[in-house]
Amino acid sequence: MASLALAALLVCPLAAALDNGLSLRPAMGWLHWERFVCNADCDADPENCISEYLYMRMADVMAQEGWREAGYEYVCIDDCWSSLRRDARGRLRADPKRFPGGISQLAQYVHSKGLKLGIYGDVGTKTCAGYPGSLGHYETDAQTFADWGVDLLKFDGCDMNWTLLGEGYVNMSRALNATGRSILYSCEWPLYEWPFRQPNYTAIRETCNHWRNFADVYDSWSSVKSILEWTASHQDIIVPSAGPGGWNDPDMLVIGNFGLSHDQQESQMALWAIMAAPLLMSNDPRDICPRSKELLQNRHIIAISQDPLGRQGRRTVKTNGFEVWERPLSSGRLAVAVLNLLEMGGPRRLDVSSAPGWKRCDPQCNVTQILPRLKQLGVQTLKGKLGVAVNPSGTALLTISPISDAQTQSLLWKDLSFKNRAGPVL
Ligand code: GLA
Repeated sequence: MASLALAALLVCPLAAALDNGLSLRPAMGWLHWERFVCNADCDADPENCISEYLYMRMADVMAQEGWREAGYEYVCIDDCWSSLRRDARGRLRADPKRFPGGISQLAQYVHSKGLKLGIYGDVGTKTCAGYPGSLGHYETDAQTFADWGVDLLKFDGCDMNWTLLGEGYVNMSRALNATGRSILYSCEWPLYEWPFRQPNYTAIRETCNHWRNFADVYDSWSSVKSILEWTASHQDIIVPSAGPGGWNDPDMLVIGNFGLSHDQQESQMALWAIMAAPLLMSNDPRDICPRSKELLQNRHIIAISQDPLGRQGRRTVKTNGFEVWERPLSSGRLAVAVLNLLEMGGPRRLDVSSAPGWKRCDPQCNVTQILPRLKQLGVQTLKGKLGVAVNPSGTALLTISPISDAQTQSLLWKDLSFKNRAGPVL
């Protein structure tokens, strides 16, 4: 085992992660932004406005309806929670009308449900919705969040000179560390740096627990597709930086809202698991269709997302309106997602045995289909053919497990170099 760990270091040195002991697996939870945006009108819409009531109800539902048991742990506030002015001592404060009990009391409530509380800030002068930013106040704000009992900080990058982004994100990371409280640090540093230059992912991984690279997700299939395309076309740059302690963040799951068909929801869930993405849903679990809930709580997909090997997958094939994405898993297993991007006609078949990862079937493997429904596809051989039918904009998700122990060991060794290799030319 020790020699295996040493080999891992020699073959694919993963940059050091932020050393706060957090996010050893991609974080799971709920984040208000995509679904509830900046609704501050509690007189007109008391059930859905950004208020302590909203997060308390979310915590109730997450504790009562299987979400916490499925792994969803963080209840996260996004923008628009604060007052427009700091208090007399220069500290951020929650809007007193919408958060009469304050964030500290809200954190206690969320903790009493066995969950954790996330909050939102900004590295610059103002948040993206125009609330006070933290520039010039990093130590004070980090200490305030720690004093309140906050467990996660999403730190946005609006209203900031891009040349100072790195310094700002690093200083806030240090300030959080100096509080002594474990606060998961979710950054948007690369998203704001990409328009000017290629971000330094080694530095980002040392600073943040996850990081947004690309535009905000919307409740639409075109938005989800654009995130997948960006990720695949930058995979050689971003995939090597992901691993226990730090992850690429393709933004929230919008499953259970209005814009995605059920097949598209399955595609988002499957591909977010393949991408080792944080699973932060932005929906209304108080009122969600049972099929979407079942999908979000699907333990087989969550097991892929949270796999202990901690490696992000990549797109390995793009052919004839199909994409194949593959993620190496622990014990020499592989998760394979087959996405049908053709938005017309009916289900189309792809031969999964043409995927590069099918080499795990030398001489034999066991294949389990997870999506569209759980099904054992049995023992397969290297030379065998296995077709899967995939609905338009849907995804078939499979796991491939080599059969013998000896084979598992040899595949583990091969896995060690997977991350540093560019995929096949597409
Ligand atoms: C930016 C972020 C979003 C959200 C909003 C809030 O657009 O990328 O995720 O936090 O700001 O204003």
